Amino acid sequence: MNRRQFMAASLATTVLAGLGETATLCETAQAREGKAMHILVLTGSPRKHGNSATLASAFIRGAKEAGHTVARFDAALKNVHPCTACNSCGMDGPCVFQDDFAFVREEIGKADLVAFATPMYYFGFSSQLKAVIDRFYAINGSIHVAKKAVLMVTYADNAAKKERPILTHYEMLLDYLGWQDAGRIIAPGVWPTGAIQSTAYPQKAYELGKHL
Ligand SMILES: Cc1cc2nc3c(=O)[nH]c(=O)nc-3n(C[C@H](O)[C@H](O)[C@H](O)COP(=O)(O)O)c2cc1C
Repeated sequence: MNRRQFMAASLATTVLAGLGETATLCETAQAREGKAMHILVLTGSPRKHGNSATLASAFIRGAKEAGHTVARFDAALKNVHPCTACNSCGMDGPCVFQDDFAFVREEIGKADLVAFATPMYYFGFSSQLKAVIDRFYAINGSIHVAKKAVLMVTYADNAAKKERPILTHYEMLLDYLGWQDAGRIIAPGVWPTGAIQSTAYPQKAYELGKHL
Protein backbone atom coordinates (compact mmCIF):
# COMPACT_ATOMS: atom_id res chain seq x y z
CA MET A 1 0.00 0.00 0.00
CA ASN A 2 1.57 3.28 -1.04
CA ARG A 3 1.02 6.64 0.66
CA ARG A 4 -1.83 7.60 -1.65
CA GLN A 5 -3.59 4.30 -0.90
CA PHE A 6 -2.89 4.82 2.82
CA MET A 7 -4.65 8.17 2.73
CA ALA A 8 -7.49 6.67 0.69
CA ALA A 9 -7.83 3.84 3.23
CA SER A 10 -7.99 6.37 6.07
CA LEU A 11 -10.65 8.31 4.24
CA ALA A 12 -12.52 5.15 3.35
CA THR A 13 -12.56 4.12 7.02
CA THR A 14 -14.20 7.41 7.92
CA VAL A 15 -16.71 7.28 5.09
CA LEU A 16 -17.54 3.62 5.61
CA ALA A 17 -18.13 4.25 9.31
CA GLY A 18 -20.88 6.58 8.26
CA LEU A 19 -22.35 3.91 6.02
CA GLY A 20 -22.49 1.34 8.76
CA GLU A 21 -19.53 -0.79 7.65
CA THR A 22 -18.01 -0.45 11.12
CA ALA A 23 -21.02 -2.33 12.47
CA THR A 24 -20.14 -5.21 10.15
CA LEU A 25 -16.63 -5.34 11.59
CA CYS A 26 -18.01 -5.35 15.13
CA GLU A 27 -20.48 -8.09 14.31
CA THR A 28 -17.62 -10.24 13.08
CA ALA A 29 -15.80 -9.70 16.37
CA GLN A 30 -18.94 -10.37 18.36
CA ALA A 31 -19.51 -13.61 16.47
CA ARG A 32 -16.32 -14.84 18.12
CA GLU A 33 -17.50 -14.07 21.65
CA GLY A 34 -17.60 -17.09 23.85
CA LYS A 35 -14.95 -18.81 21.73
CA ALA A 36 -11.30 -19.20 22.59
CA MET A 37 -9.26 -16.34 21.19
CA HIS A 38 -5.63 -15.89 20.40
CA ILE A 39 -4.32 -12.85 22.25
CA LEU A 40 -1.17 -10.83 21.66
CA VAL A 41 -0.03 -8.79 24.66
CA LEU A 42 2.38 -5.93 23.93
CA THR A 43 4.02 -4.42 26.99
CA GLY A 44 6.06 -1.23 27.06
CA SER A 45 7.85 -0.88 30.37
CA PRO A 46 11.56 -1.44 30.89
CA ARG A 47 10.69 -2.52 34.44
CA LYS A 48 10.42 -6.28 34.13
CA HIS A 49 8.22 -6.58 37.22
CA GLY A 50 6.85 -3.06 37.18
CA ASN A 51 3.29 -1.84 37.54
CA SER A 52 2.12 -2.25 33.94
CA ALA A 53 3.92 -5.59 33.63
CA THR A 54 2.01 -6.72 36.73
CA LEU A 55 -1.28 -5.75 35.08
CA ALA A 56 -0.25 -7.58 31.91
CA SER A 57 0.59 -10.73 33.90
CA ALA A 58 -2.71 -10.63 35.78
CA PHE A 59 -4.62 -10.11 32.54
CA ILE A 60 -2.78 -13.04 30.94
CA ARG A 61 -3.51 -15.30 33.92
CA GLY A 62 -7.22 -14.55 33.64
CA ALA A 63 -7.23 -14.99 29.85
CA LYS A 64 -5.44 -18.33 30.03
CA GLU A 65 -7.82 -19.56 32.73
CA ALA A 66 -10.68 -18.64 30.40
CA GLY A 67 -9.15 -20.88 27.71
CA HIS A 68 -7.53 -18.28 25.48
CA THR A 69 -4.03 -18.68 24.09
CA VAL A 70 -1.64 -15.81 24.73
CA ALA A 71 1.60 -14.57 23.19
CA ARG A 72 3.48 -11.88 25.11
CA PHE A 73 5.97 -9.41 23.69
CA ASP A 74 7.86 -7.25 26.19
CA ALA A 75 8.97 -4.52 23.82
CA ALA A 76 11.46 -2.89 26.21
CA LEU A 77 13.31 -6.17 26.60
CA LYS A 78 13.47 -6.79 22.85
CA ASN A 79 15.29 -5.33 19.93
CA VAL A 80 12.86 -3.24 17.86
CA HIS A 81 14.38 -0.53 15.70
CA PRO A 82 12.22 2.58 15.28
CA CYS A 83 10.64 3.04 11.85
CA THR A 84 12.88 5.24 9.71
CA ALA A 85 10.23 6.05 7.08
CA CYS A 86 12.32 4.57 4.28
CA ASN A 87 9.05 3.25 2.84
CA SER A 88 10.81 0.16 1.53
CA CYS A 89 7.90 -1.89 2.91
CA GLY A 90 5.36 0.07 0.89
CA MET A 91 3.21 -0.13 4.03
CA ASP A 92 2.62 -3.82 3.39
CA GLY A 93 5.82 -5.73 2.93
CA PRO A 94 9.19 -6.72 4.31
CA CYS A 95 10.94 -4.25 6.63
CA VAL A 96 14.59 -3.36 6.16
CA PHE A 97 15.12 -4.14 9.85
CA GLN A 98 15.42 -7.85 10.60
CA ASP A 99 14.78 -7.66 14.34
CA ASP A 100 12.39 -8.86 17.03
CA PHE A 101 9.42 -7.19 15.37
CA ALA A 102 9.21 -10.37 13.29
CA PHE A 103 7.50 -11.96 16.30
CA VAL A 104 4.83 -9.23 16.38
CA ARG A 105 4.31 -9.48 12.63
CA GLU A 106 3.69 -13.20 12.96
CA GLU A 107 1.49 -13.04 16.07
CA ILE A 108 -0.65 -10.04 15.18
CA GLY A 109 -1.90 -11.80 12.09
CA LYS A 110 -3.19 -14.67 14.23
CA ALA A 111 -4.49 -12.50 17.06
CA ASP A 112 -8.19 -11.94 17.71
CA LEU A 113 -7.28 -9.44 20.42
CA VAL A 114 -4.27 -7.20 20.96
CA ALA A 115 -3.62 -5.91 24.49
CA PHE A 116 -1.40 -2.88 25.11
CA ALA A 117 0.13 -2.50 28.59
CA THR A 118 2.25 0.57 29.17
CA PRO A 119 3.43 3.06 31.76
CA MET A 120 2.38 6.59 30.94
CA TYR A 121 5.47 8.48 29.75
CA TYR A 122 4.85 12.20 29.29
CA PHE A 123 1.15 11.55 28.72
CA GLY A 124 1.65 8.88 26.07
CA PHE A 125 2.78 5.31 25.47
CA SER A 126 6.36 4.48 26.41
CA SER A 127 8.70 4.96 23.47
CA GLN A 128 9.46 1.24 23.51
CA LEU A 129 5.82 0.39 22.87
CA LYS A 130 5.37 3.29 20.47
CA ALA A 131 8.28 1.93 18.41
CA VAL A 132 6.35 -1.33 18.01
CA ILE A 133 3.17 0.51 17.03
CA ASP A 134 5.08 2.59 14.49
CA ARG A 135 6.39 -0.60 12.94
CA PHE A 136 2.74 -1.51 12.20
CA TYR A 137 3.48 0.66 9.16
CA ALA A 138 5.05 -2.34 7.43
CA ILE A 139 1.94 -4.47 8.03
CA ASN A 140 -0.58 -1.67 7.65
CA GLY A 141 -2.13 -3.29 4.61
CA SER A 142 -3.07 -6.45 6.49
CA ILE A 143 -4.16 -5.36 9.98
CA HIS A 144 -7.30 -3.41 9.12
CA VAL A 145 -9.36 -6.46 10.05
CA ALA A 146 -11.80 -6.99 12.91
CA LYS A 147 -9.92 -7.47 16.16
CA LYS A 148 -10.51 -6.59 19.75
CA ALA A 149 -8.14 -4.51 21.85
CA VAL A 150 -7.41 -3.85 25.52
CA LEU A 151 -5.51 -0.97 27.10
CA MET A 152 -3.69 -1.12 30.44
CA VAL A 153 -1.95 2.02 31.69
CA THR A 154 -0.21 2.87 34.94
CA TYR A 155 0.83 6.35 35.96
CA ALA A 156 1.99 8.31 38.97
CA ASP A 157 -0.32 11.31 38.88
CA ASN A 158 -3.88 11.36 40.08
CA ALA A 159 -5.61 13.80 37.74
CA ALA A 160 -8.02 12.23 35.28
CA LYS A 161 -7.32 14.93 32.68
CA LYS A 162 -3.77 13.57 32.36
CA GLU A 163 -5.25 10.35 30.96
CA ARG A 164 -6.90 12.13 28.04
CA PRO A 165 -3.95 12.10 25.57
CA ILE A 166 -3.19 8.39 25.89
CA LEU A 167 -6.89 7.48 25.78
CA THR A 168 -7.39 9.63 22.70
CA HIS A 169 -4.40 8.00 21.03
CA TYR A 170 -5.75 4.51 21.81
CA GLU A 171 -9.24 5.39 20.60
CA MET A 172 -7.92 6.92 17.37
CA LEU A 173 -5.69 3.91 16.72
CA LEU A 174 -8.64 1.54 17.11
CA ASP A 175 -10.86 3.75 14.99
CA TYR A 176 -8.26 3.78 12.24
CA LEU A 177 -7.63 0.02 12.37
CA GLY A 178 -11.29 -0.93 12.78
CA TRP A 179 -10.57 -2.69 16.07
CA GLN A 180 -13.10 -2.87 18.90
CA ASP A 181 -12.29 -1.85 22.47
CA ALA A 182 -12.76 -4.79 24.85
CA GLY A 183 -11.79 -3.00 28.06
CA ARG A 184 -9.36 -0.69 29.79
CA ILE A 185 -7.54 -0.75 33.09
CA ILE A 186 -6.25 2.72 33.89
CA ALA A 187 -4.32 2.81 37.16
CA PRO A 188 -3.40 6.25 38.54
CA GLY A 189 -1.33 6.98 41.62
CA VAL A 190 1.32 4.31 41.16
CA TRP A 191 4.92 5.40 40.87
CA PRO A 192 7.55 2.95 42.22
CA THR A 193 7.78 -0.65 41.10
CA GLY A 194 5.38 -2.69 43.19
CA ALA A 195 3.05 0.20 44.03
CA ILE A 196 0.31 -1.49 42.01
CA GLN A 197 0.34 -4.50 44.34
CA SER A 198 -1.54 -2.66 47.08
CA THR A 199 -4.32 -1.61 44.70
CA ALA A 200 -7.33 -3.41 43.23
CA TYR A 201 -6.03 -3.00 39.65
CA PRO A 202 -4.25 -6.35 39.26
CA GLN A 203 -7.48 -8.09 40.28
CA LYS A 204 -9.39 -5.94 37.78
CA ALA A 205 -6.91 -6.87 35.05
CA TYR A 206 -7.31 -10.53 35.95
CA GLU A 207 -11.10 -10.22 35.78
CA LEU A 208 -10.89 -8.46 32.43
CA GLY A 209 -8.75 -11.28 31.01
CA LYS A 210 -11.09 -13.87 32.44
CA HIS A 211 -14.27 -12.29 31.06
CA LEU A 212 -13.38 -11.00 27.61
C1 LIG B 1 10.23 8.70 31.45
C2 LIG B 1 9.07 8.71 32.41
C3 LIG B 1 7.98 9.52 32.12
C4 LIG B 1 6.87 9.52 32.96
N1 LIG B 1 5.82 10.33 32.66
C5 LIG B 1 4.75 10.34 33.48
C6 LIG B 1 3.64 11.20 33.21
O1 LIG B 1 3.59 11.91 32.22
N2 LIG B 1 2.60 11.20 34.09
C7 LIG B 1 2.61 10.43 35.23
O2 LIG B 1 1.66 10.48 35.99
N3 LIG B 1 3.63 9.57 35.48
C8 LIG B 1 4.69 9.51 34.64
N4 LIG B 1 5.73 8.67 34.91
C9 LIG B 1 5.61 7.68 36.00
C10 LIG B 1 5.18 6.31 35.49
O3 LIG B 1 4.10 6.41 34.58
C11 LIG B 1 4.74 5.41 36.67
O4 LIG B 1 5.81 5.25 37.55
C12 LIG B 1 4.26 4.06 36.19
O5 LIG B 1 3.55 3.42 37.21
C13 LIG B 1 5.44 3.17 35.79
O6 LIG B 1 4.95 1.94 35.32
P1 LIG B 1 5.92 0.69 35.17
O7 LIG B 1 6.29 0.25 36.57
O8 LIG B 1 5.11 -0.32 34.46
O9 LIG B 1 7.10 1.13 34.38
C14 LIG B 1 6.86 8.67 34.10
C15 LIG B 1 7.98 7.85 34.38
C16 LIG B 1 9.06 7.88 33.56
C17 LIG B 1 10.25 7.00 33.88
